[in-house]
Amino acid sequence: MKRLISWHDSFSVNNVVIDNQHKKLIDIINNFYEIVRSSSDKNEIARIFDELKSYTNYHFKAEESMLEKVNYVHLESHQLLHQGFIDKLLELETKYMQGKFTVNSEMMGFLRNWLIEHIMTEDKRYMKFINVNEE
Ligand SMILES: [Fe+2]
Repeated sequence: MKRLISWHDSFSVNNVVIDNQHKKLIDIINNFYEIVRSSSDKNEIARIFDELKSYTNYHFKAEESMLEKVNYVHLESHQLLHQGFIDKLLELETKYMQGKFTVNSEMMGFLRNWLIEHIMTEDKRYMKFINVNEE
């Protein structure tokens, strides 16, 4: 199976729980990619949209509550970025369900780039706040 995203150690935020959630998100996006490549079955696409949405929600909430516990200074702007992504996912899903949009490689590229960019820039910024023993 050709994967859209492969986990790389440089993605790690040195937190096993968060790293595992990021790996799971990568898995879901790779499954989405595989479904888009191999079929256009509406039920299957609707199901994977739903899975991506609910797992993303779950992960963002977990991350935000962890950041709240350490009084992360950039929590509010981080939350806004999360919300922006959720809104975008909802918009894509709604358009797809209404038949106004076909899932395509451009959308898959957006999902991949957003996730990797977010991990590498925004999530990495909180590393030193959650791993207090590190510095
Ligand atoms: Fe995040």
